[in-house]
Amino acid sequence: MPSVVRSLLLLALAALSASASPHDLHDHDHAAPRALPGRWYHHEDHPAYALFRRGDTDGATYPAVGSPEWSAGYPDTDVTKGTPQAWIDALNAAVKAGKVPNIPVATSTGGNPTYPQGFDPNGPEVCSATYKCRNKEDLWDAPDGVFGSSFDDGPLPTSMPLYEFLKQNNVITTHFMIGSNILWNADAFTYAFETLESDIAVHTWTHPYMTTLSNEQVIGELGWTMELIHNSTGGRLPKYWRPPYGDSDERVRAIAKEVFGLTTVIWNQDTEDWSIGESTGTTRPKVDASLKEWITGPKSPGLIILEHELTNNTVGAFMQAFPLIAQNGWKFESVARLDGGSVYQNSDDDTDDVTPQAVGVFAAASPSPPASDASSTASSSSNSKPTGTGTVTSGSSSPVSTGSTANPSATGAAQDHKNGAMSRFGSPMSWHSAALATSLSVLAAAFALS
Ligand SMILES: *[C@@H]1O[C@H](CO)[C@@H](O)[C@H](O)[C@H]1NC(C)=O
Ligand SMILES: *[C@@H]1O[C@H](CO)[C@@H](O)[C@H](O)[C@H]1NC(C)=O
Ligand SMILES: [Zn+2]
Repeated sequence: MPSVVRSLLLLALAALSASASPHDLHDHDHAAPRALPGRWYHHEDHPAYALFRRGDTDGATYPAVGSPEWSAGYPDTDVTKGTPQAWIDALNAAVKAGKVPNIPVATSTGGNPTYPQGFDPNGPEVCSATYKCRNKEDLWDAPDGVFGSSFDDGPLPTSMPLYEFLKQNNVITTHFMIGSNILWNADAFTYAFETLESDIAVHTWTHPYMTTLSNEQVIGELGWTMELIHNSTGGRLPKYWRPPYGDSDERVRAIAKEVFGLTTVIWNQDTEDWSIGESTGTTRPKVDASLKEWITGPKSPGLIILEHELTNNTVGAFMQAFPLIAQNGWKFESVARLDGGSVYQNSDDDTDDVTPQAVGVFAAASPSPPASDASSTASSSSNSKPTGTGTVTSGSSSPVSTGSTANPSATGAAQDHKNGAMSRFGSPMSWHSAALATSLSVLAAAFALS
């Protein structure tokens, strides 16, 4: 995607973030009901120890979710800023050992990310999920007869009707959460994790096209989201991540796996629910019809439908279709439980004890590279922290006046790959809906964007 679009997206995210200060709405005590046991669960030589424990304490006392201390240490939009040395070391060790394919970073000008000539996106070397190349280790299908449920892009203020619905119906799902959204919607996060006891997974920090990022940026996008979830759930490490736009390739997938132990999840059906209401988007009746068709259709393979906790309509379509799932004999299952194993890398679920796990096993096996590799990365970050945008109201219905200027690539490039992982390139700003665009308009006034 053009860098201008990306920076606008990132700025908008930051503005949206500023809209719901995590420090204000804290009228009750979130102090970790699931604090870690006194003894840290990794041995000293376990790499996860280095990746996710950097202080003198064993993590038994994490700041309350939503408190200023809890949110203080995370980046806003520049995920390469202040990257922990341990992550860089783990990345460099994986690269050095040939575990991370040395394929080019993809480029995008508003359409599918592309690779230089000689690099076939469908070939085994690149194997881009955007082009529907399936790496066997990735999760695309549910087992026969199983409806594998998940929701992307939360937590958001709009998530709550979904969470309450799930609670009422006594089911849980997998939430592929955006790190920066967790930071600014602490109450919704806490509800999903503690009250609903739903499964938390990774959907990056700023929702970029991951194949267009450098190795160091990939590390930041995944690592900070991992760390925030880890530090907000009594030390649980997510086991699954879903690339925004389904955009992953062998390089990105390898970094996720080798450094953070993450398994990549895509999907096998896409209603494009996120685009309801967009000028070139789908409609609610079409989304409803697609859901009905699939749920009343063949049971093999099982379904993993891309769904979003973004708007009244994306959530509403799911709620309307929900009774059909049981009526048609499907087993409803959270995506993170499809393999029958633990939800997290180090815990069975949201209430079980945390136990040893395997993040970055590979990194431990190799010596650390010279520190110079990392310091150059860390210092290359720019300072883009927006300030003074605290009056933006998330979810406000203000006119989306800057939408067209903010989205120069919205015309033409839309690709409608039915059932495919590529459906959202046409409008890179749309995934976050009006709230984001509203934030963007405020930002545009506050910053000289060129
Ligand atoms: C996460 O928790 C660890 C302690 O386990 C702490 O060292 C680290 O600073 C926390 N991260 C952030 C960004 O607050
Ligand atoms: C969506 O909006 C309609 C009309 O305002 C309302 O009746 C419905 O409860 C809303 N659904 C959700 C999921 O919030
Ligand atoms: Zn998403």
